[in-house]
Amino acid sequence: MNQAKIVEVGPRDGLQNEAGVTLAQRIALVDALSQTGLKEIEAGSFVSPKWVPQMADADQLFSRINRQPGVRYSALTPNLRGLESALSVGVDGVAVFGAASESFSQRNINCSVAESLERFQPVMAAAREANVPVRGYVSCVLGCPYEGDIEVAKVVEVAQTLYQMGCYEISLGDTIGVGTPAKAKAMVAAVAQQVPVSALALHFHDTYGQALANVLACLELGITTFDSAVAGLGGCPYAAGASGNLASEDLVYMLEGMGIDTGVNLDALVLAGAQICRSLNKAPTSRVAQAWLAKHKEKQG
Ligand code: HMG
Ligand code: MG
Repeated sequence: MNQAKIVEVGPRDGLQNEAGVTLAQRIALVDALSQTGLKEIEAGSFVSPKWVPQMADADQLFSRINRQPGVRYSALTPNLRGLESALSVGVDGVAVFGAASESFSQRNINCSVAESLERFQPVMAAAREANVPVRGYVSCVLGCPYEGDIEVAKVVEVAQTLYQMGCYEISLGDTIGVGTPAKAKAMVAAVAQQVPVSALALHFHDTYGQALANVLACLELGITTFDSAVAGLGGCPYAAGASGNLASEDLVYMLEGMGIDTGVNLDALVLAGAQICRSLNKAPTSRVAQAWLAKHKEKQG
């Protein structure tokens, strides 16, 4: 394998958990990321602003970002209403999000796993009609904040159903970042028996510092698509204690160091992360960003 695809989820998964983030800050982040060579940016969510106020006004965000050719700007759409709003502002791709845990599904989208899959049917149909590709997320693939361990069979079942419904890619989410490499690899291997490896993406949160190790383990299975968030932003509003996603800078640094081309300019990526962190008044959790920024400060000083 000599190429990997990175799906940048910082503006969505990252910022959905940042209290007080403004629309202008969200737009500035998407625009900065658009200059890094990233080809896929999940820019927002068309969800209820009562549930996730940080993602409000996604229509305005999509109308105001400076879209770059060759970059796919996508958004989460949990229901038909979300999809219709997303289509009205010309999103390039949408994502439905289900879970392998009943309790998480209830807390996150207020319905059972089976109900969610039914709710996605009209979303899939309308997206197909509009020629917009749909990604499918499965949350809690390596553990649930409410139920603890999750059966691999349940992960396989939900992933397979989403794939059969027409999702072009299934992103397997370790929502609370509890997975370890051998467990992650076994889970992915089980899903890969039902969904082609080329249609799988991995979405690791880094709560327990295992995300990069999990990526490395799963590269051995032939996975080439990974979700990450610049500066390691993020968490999940419905998973207490879940920290940010795997940091994009760390992922790019490791993959490029292994000779795997990501197409991403690390310098530009670090600067995009530093900019949003400055405006949120926090430090990037990315170790690579911290090292890069320290080195450049040293040079300047
Ligand atoms: P509900 O309450 O069951 O649905 O919410 P409802 O149809 O009864 O609607 C409730 C209210 O929301 C109504 O407003 C609707 O109009 C409004 P009210 O009458 O109370 O004023 N509404 C909407 N507004 C805007 N856009 C919409 C929309 N739909 C309804 N599309 C719903 C169901 C799914 C909408 C709700 O539960 C929700 O928005 N949940 C948010 C879920 C979310 O965004 N979670 C975080 C993202 S998932 C994640 O982070 C995991 C992931 O990263 C992978 C991983 O790490 O595992 C993807
Ligand atoms: Mg997530």
